[in-house]
Amino acid sequence: MPPTTTPPKPLLIAGNWKMYGRMADLAELDALAAAVGGVRAEVDVVLCPPFTMTAAAAGRAKGGRIAIGVQDVAAIGADGAHTGDVSAAMAADAGARFAIVGHSERRAAHGETDAVVAAKATAAAAAGLVPIVCVGETLEQRKAGEAAAVVAAQVAGSCPAAGVVLAYEPVWAIGTGLTPTAAEIAEIHAEARRAFAAKFPGAAVRILYGGSVKPGNAAEILAIDGVDGALVGGASLKAKDFAAIVLAG
Ligand code: 13P
Repeated sequence: MPPTTTPPKPLLIAGNWKMYGRMADLAELDALAAAVGGVRAEVDVVLCPPFTMTAAAAGRAKGGRIAIGVQDVAAIGADGAHTGDVSAAMAADAGARFAIVGHSERRAAHGETDAVVAAKATAAAAAGLVPIVCVGETLEQRKAGEAAAVVAAQVAGSCPAAGVVLAYEPVWAIGTGLTPTAAEIAEIHAEARRAFAAKFPGAAVRILYGGSVKPGNAAEILAIDGVDGALVGGASLKAKDFAAIVLAG
């Protein structure tokens, strides 16, 4: 007889602390580790504090269920005279295993183009980090009916190779408390997957949803067809909230 229930999805739940976090907040990491210790093995849990905390967080998380990531890396792989930049190799050396690239806040505030994002993803992968490549439309683009096309173009332009994780983060849903409907999320995830498959035939890709994911909506969002996890901003700062999201999957 065929099974009557679908098995739970393998998920990746990543927290992005953005420009928040002091060393004292490592206590939140400890609390998170304690709270998610028993989460099912098919759920990957990633936390991305600021660079200043990478090494300490990685040391603290070692051997547990939480992997540490960084929020950006330099587009240049080799060491050199690049004041203020942090290379992917340095992030890996500090204990990071993932790197967010192409977040809309960096695309907007630092003028990062798809080509720059692709170069950063290449640098991250070369250093052994898993790139989490962010894509997503603005409110104006959604209102103009361009969301699917914008995301497809970003996927094609920002992913240099298979082996990345994608994160669909509609710009208008970030930090606003607004979220797309389940149908809208499913539609864009399907479009992103189509665009990825067109560029890398046969390669699987995990696609996270990000934008106002909270304990109260996580279970519904994570259950949507084509959603393979979440990229969580504000609600990842408090271990209690982030653990609730991880356990909702
Ligand atoms: P919020 O969860 O605060 O909306 O942020 C989402 C985000 O930008 C994660 O990268």
